Amino acid sequence: MEEKILKIKENALVDIEKAQNSKELEEVKNKYLSRQSELNNFKKSLKDIEPSLRPKIGSLTNEVSKYLEEKINEKYNEFYKSELNAKLNSEKIDVTLDSAYIPFGKVHPLSATINEIVEIFEHLGFSLIENKLSPEVELEKYNFDLLNVPKEHPARDVQDTYYSYAGENVVLRSHTSNAQIRQMQNSHPPIKIVSPGRVYRNESVSARKNNLFHQVEGLYVDKGVTFAHLKGVLNEFIRLYFGSARPTRFRNSFFPFTEPSAEIDVQCIVCQGKGCSTCSGSGWLEILGSGMVDPNVLKGVGIDPEIYSGFAFGMGVERLAMLKYAIDDIRLFFNNDERFLKQF
Ligand code: PHE
Repeated sequence: MEEKILKIKENALVDIEKAQNSKELEEVKNKYLSRQSELNNFKKSLKDIEPSLRPKIGSLTNEVSKYLEEKINEKYNEFYKSELNAKLNSEKIDVTLDSAYIPFGKVHPLSATINEIVEIFEHLGFSLIENKLSPEVELEKYNFDLLNVPKEHPARDVQDTYYSYAGENVVLRSHTSNAQIRQMQNSHPPIKIVSPGRVYRNESVSARKNNLFHQVEGLYVDKGVTFAHLKGVLNEFIRLYFGSARPTRFRNSFFPFTEPSAEIDVQCIVCQGKGCSTCSGSGWLEILGSGMVDPNVLKGVGIDPEIYSGFAFGMGVERLAMLKYAIDDIRLFFNNDERFLKQF
């Protein structure tokens, strides 16, 4: 019996030596140390052998199984290290390789420009007002009448404004200036707001004009607001938006809802002021209309022009984006061509 056990030990050691990897070693372990192994059978049959021999055989089987277990573990540790290293080497990641292309959604250049404009004015103390205070489908009253635009003014002509008749005259707003009226009717001075949004004009589409475009309206009404404030705020806006390098000029203008009125031009980025097709040869591009709120407009919304004064402005978002990024065709903003949108 003792011999048999020692023979098992010998065979086991040979098998352990022969095992090439942890899987084969696992098989060896099963063969010699599992419940069904020969050694275990000896342990089970101890009760059948002569009592005087039991302790000796018992402790021998225990010794041998303990010894084999140690040997197997030793070898297993060796395999574990080398196999882990092999695995790590084969799965090595080259972090310098290009990653798979994952297309990202991006903010549209017009939204980005609006955000940037609004941020600058917030920095200058203006608040962004809610969209519902300046609807795109608007009563003629807010788009024109309360803005002191006379009934026979050419801007009301069907050629410029999209009309619809629904009991009252309804228009697609032709500018964001309706926000001025709605804001003044809804609050009291001091008012210092900006309101961005879409506007519509019935124009033939070209590289310079689209029948849908965006404006940011601004309004500041308080006691003692002067044209100096208007110039200071708009100059500061231009400096922050373009950086101080871009030449600009204030030019006399006329709007029915402001008096006096001024337009601001920025030097054409395409020709640097020399004159080209983008700026119709003038070297300048208009970016905004502005002026001191006409007393008639203040009266119309119940604000006393003897006590309060204000300035307003409306700027073209597409224009501002085109000037900053040297884009020569307004239609690019609306075509959803990925090759264009990806560049922002
Ligand atoms: N609403 C004018 C336009 O669209 C711009 C403007 C706004 C002018 C506010 C003066 C004051 O042309």
